[in-house]
Amino acid sequence: MRSTPRPGAVGSTVRRGLVAAAVLALGATAAVATATSASAAVACKVNYTASEWQGGMSANLTIQNLGDALNNWTLTFTFPNSGQKVSQGWSGNWSQSGSNVTVTAMDWNKSLASGASTSIGFNGTWSGSNPAPTSFKINGVTCNGTQQSPSASPSAPVSPTPPVSPSPQVSPSPQVSPSPQVSPSASPSTSPPPPGTHVDNPYVGATGYVNPDWSASAASEPGGSRVANISTAVWLDRIAAITSGSAGNNSKGLRDHLDEAVKQDAANGSTPLTIQVVIYDLPNRDCSALASNGELKIAQNGLARYKTEYIDVIAGIMADSKYSNLRIVTIIEPDSLPNLITNVSAFQACQEAESSGAYVQGVQYALNKLHAIKNVYTYVDAAHHAWLGWDNNFQPMVNLFHQVATGTTDGVKSIDGFIVNTANFGATVEPYFTINTSVNGQSVRQSKWVDWNWYVDEQSFAVGLRNALVAKGFPNTLGMLIDTSRNGWGGSARPTGPSTSTSVDTFVNQSRVDRRIHAGNWCNQSGAGMGERPKANPAAGLDAYVWIKPPGESDGSSSQIPNDEGKGFDRMCDPTYTGNSLNGNNMSGALGGAPVSGHWFSAQFQQLMQNAYPPLS
Ligand code: BGC
Repeated sequence: MRSTPRPGAVGSTVRRGLVAAAVLALGATAAVATATSASAAVACKVNYTASEWQGGMSANLTIQNLGDALNNWTLTFTFPNSGQKVSQGWSGNWSQSGSNVTVTAMDWNKSLASGASTSIGFNGTWSGSNPAPTSFKINGVTCNGTQQSPSASPSAPVSPTPPVSPSPQVSPSPQVSPSPQVSPSASPSTSPPPPGTHVDNPYVGATGYVNPDWSASAASEPGGSRVANISTAVWLDRIAAITSGSAGNNSKGLRDHLDEAVKQDAANGSTPLTIQVVIYDLPNRDCSALASNGELKIAQNGLARYKTEYIDVIAGIMADSKYSNLRIVTIIEPDSLPNLITNVSAFQACQEAESSGAYVQGVQYALNKLHAIKNVYTYVDAAHHAWLGWDNNFQPMVNLFHQVATGTTDGVKSIDGFIVNTANFGATVEPYFTINTSVNGQSVRQSKWVDWNWYVDEQSFAVGLRNALVAKGFPNTLGMLIDTSRNGWGGSARPTGPSTSTSVDTFVNQSRVDRRIHAGNWCNQSGAGMGERPKANPAAGLDAYVWIKPPGESDGSSSQIPNDEGKGFDRMCDPTYTGNSLNGNNMSGALGGAPVSGHWFSAQFQQLMQNAYPPLS
């Protein structure tokens, strides 16, 4: 799959137009993600409230800045009892060493004006007793509620050198300031909701289904047992997959998976189980690429077959009462609606998908059938930042999602959320620069890599998209997912800090952890690693980091390989291909020796483990 992202209907002239706006609007204020200035007086107050049940707990912390404005903050505290552990935090990057806990700020809550507060929290485990920490520090200074001098050196992250202010005062448009207001639905209540309840976030408090087919492939690789128990999605990539398994060596049909999920669920006591199923068989599938073309064609009655032979059958199985306690997450039609935004004029198959209404009607049909089942959750695919992050793509996409949803029986409520980065490689967070970073007076937006996009990574894109969707009329419960299965970018090529270059191109190229040759490259990317392991509520507005593309399954063959799955040969999967306008005429960056999409690609799996970030232990 993975059709080529396009900097859109946006021609370069239009994008140049934006340049002028950005430059004219350059203000003199505000440094970028710099550390707390050494001269700022730090004073703070932390309010800690917790609820607990046998062995588990959840805490909310409010950090109030009583000192000078902070550009960034790091919170530290120590658990009084050695058995206390953070299992999952939100609205900050949580880590724990022994009893010492460190939380660094997220991009959206790192600036705290004087008097401002922000709320963060975590779910934890404990044994014995669970006392509240007695002391908290912000940037190394104890929070005692009164103003005081900073300790010798604030422990905030080192500022990028050169300090890259001023940052442009242009704000990403549409105005999508991340909304820290979304309260994580994480905090579990003392008892889990009754099984089968349609909860706001199906990932909270749940374990993930381990697909035995994928798990066996992973475990058969040297070192693979380190990841073989991670939950990955089940792909229904053709009608036959419903009964007899999908591409490659996968042998289980949908019922087999759901039966196995019921077993895994039963083995887990009262913890609910979430199983992820990818709905991926629209007629004219993958209309702007070849590697994942599917079996159904619009011109051959494909939409009707999609409804009756595919969606109806899937919905019939999922509605079986023996599966009613499972939380079944469906990932709906990767790439399809985004292709209608950017790829209609250049690709005949996309044109047909649009003019016939097949993609819109197919997705609406799937939503109607799946949303009607109480324990099924619907997440619609929303491509990735390097596809939809430009104005000319972003708002039309929001409008189309809204139009699709309002055409379903339950309207906007038929969509639980959206997923970004499915089977793609965009970094979750670029740690060393944001969209507001400037170098020597030039915004990173002016770099070749960012290319006037309004987003530099998937998490800021997911949050921005969510805000725009809610502003358009989707409910505030909308939750975003990020596929982090292959976006880790660890290993020896990973930068360890921001570049010191004063050239914006060099700064971005040396600072970015996404090491692709071009952000439009999508097939079997060389150098990629497994990303963040699946986790619920990683940040405000996000339901979870998930592993949808099963690592080790190819995106497409490096050369033509005959097959009976309808899969074509896309040159973007050929390492010798020198590209086209969609990837800036760059090399494809694909690994060689790849089998047809969905089939096991051992060399890629090995590299993904080697370059995992966080690294595998
Ligand atoms: C392929 C599918 C496969 C999926 C997961 C897609 O690119 O077209 O056949 O099931 O990836 O690996």
